[in-house]
Amino acid sequence: MPGLLPAVLLGTVLYVLFRFYARYKLDYWKRRGVEQLPNTDLVFGNFKDGILFRRAPGYHLGVLHNSAVDKKAPYVGFYIFHKPCLLLRDPEIIKQVMIRDFDNFSDRHFAGSQQKDSIGMKNLFGLKNPAWKYLRSKITPTLTRGKLKQMLPLMMQTGKPMMDHLEEQNIQSDRETVIDAQELNYKYTTDLIANVALGTPMDSFHNPNEEFSKCVNNFFHGFKRMVALVTVFFMPELVELIGPSMLFNSSFVRKVFWDAVNSREQSGTKRGDFIDSLIQLKNGEQNPEYKFEGENLLYQSGTFFSGFESSSTTTAFTLMELAAHPEYQEKARRDIERAIKEHGLTYEAFNDMKYLDQCIAEGVRLHPPVSTIDRYTRQNYTIPGTNIVIEKGTPIYVSLYGMQEDPRFFEQPEVYDPSRFNDESQVSDAYIPFGIGPRMCVGMKVGQLHAKVVLAMILSEYIVVQKPENKLVLDPRSTFTAAADGINLHFRKVIR
Ligand code: HEM
Repeated sequence: MPGLLPAVLLGTVLYVLFRFYARYKLDYWKRRGVEQLPNTDLVFGNFKDGILFRRAPGYHLGVLHNSAVDKKAPYVGFYIFHKPCLLLRDPEIIKQVMIRDFDNFSDRHFAGSQQKDSIGMKNLFGLKNPAWKYLRSKITPTLTRGKLKQMLPLMMQTGKPMMDHLEEQNIQSDRETVIDAQELNYKYTTDLIANVALGTPMDSFHNPNEEFSKCVNNFFHGFKRMVALVTVFFMPELVELIGPSMLFNSSFVRKVFWDAVNSREQSGTKRGDFIDSLIQLKNGEQNPEYKFEGENLLYQSGTFFSGFESSSTTTAFTLMELAAHPEYQEKARRDIERAIKEHGLTYEAFNDMKYLDQCIAEGVRLHPPVSTIDRYTRQNYTIPGTNIVIEKGTPIYVSLYGMQEDPRFFEQPEVYDPSRFNDESQVSDAYIPFGIGPRMCVGMKVGQLHAKVVLAMILSEYIVVQKPENKLVLDPRSTFTAAADGINLHFRKVIR
């Protein structure tokens, strides 16, 4: 075969050249004097298991946090394919970058350099400066304590079909019924998104085949979205390739949203939901940075899709921990009953459920729903006290799995213990489940209230138990924290 030898020779030369090239690219951090993580793959860098969905991508970043050779290293370099990224792993440098030097790190790496028109991107999560700063100043007032008080009745009203559904399962005090707490919460959350963000009450428990429920269910579980999420968080350069329709594209959600806006404007009625706030913004003074008109209004409701998904995860995972720790569960139940007895079913009651707050705080420490924080370096940056220069365009990451389970910052970090958050305890600055600095979560209070409302409703009526055979397995495809096979808990009716 006369042609074979040259082909083999060419192949060998190309392979050797590629190895040289890859080795050079993957020595970037070493050349800059920054510790770089071991076991780098010539093609995938340090992110092979995350990219191939062998391990949940957010959890994989936590594994990278733990794989630093110097366990005290404040930051380490790593690679996604050949792209150099910096992983911060110490509260001081995190505060320096995210708060003190915010001006240089005010954008997320998330979503890429091009601003995509999409319900998932062109809102606070994805927007870049200067538009982000303006939008943040407008959205923050829509989520104040006063607005939360108006949202509470909608959150409770949304819980009625969920509680009816549980009642219909004929759960007894002396017999256990298995319920998937994750699925229960996804359904409640689908209805909450409809009720609060799209201004239209729905009942996914009794009408699961309604187009809206199917569409949002697909949003939570669909493989397309899993691919979209790992791409926007870790390989945003490829967002261009996957296209905005992959991120979220539903003509049906669009229709529900615009029907609600139009009928509300015509009737002039108010429900205390996000549509009320958007109509107010639409009719207010406009700024060229970001106009509240047309599709931009719809994109804002997208904030609630991922936002309520996070609070749904918070609720399901906290319930799972309480199911595994009956003594904390009983204490939480007593706290709920006391607060409701003192204040009635009011905002003040939920505000006064201090022990439930502790349980949730510990839930999001061990199971951070959004486990990756990212920023983008706008200009070359010298790390204070060193001569290490982080080049413009370098992605900066923090792993919440890494930080919040790091034994440097938490004693027995793997143990669920709500007392870490009692008044006497000092919580480490490594605890940042809602992010940090001017770009931290804008919906924190809404999310905490959502979790408390659902936990209070369930725990008032049911005792939950987790059996050893139902241990948690994370969904390896999901960038946001999710259980692969649901969160199967055994429910028993509370005896009164
Ligand atoms: C308990 C539930 C929640 C958790 C644990 C959570 C967590 C987070 C985290 C870690 C970030 C990134 C912060 C950073 O980069 O520093 C974030 C951002 C954000 N969250 Fe939440 N979130 C929750 C609920 C919500 C809810 C209910 C909403 C909507 C009402 C929401 C809206 C947002 C928005 C808009 C951002 C982007 C903020 C910005 O870039 O200015 N979140 N969240």
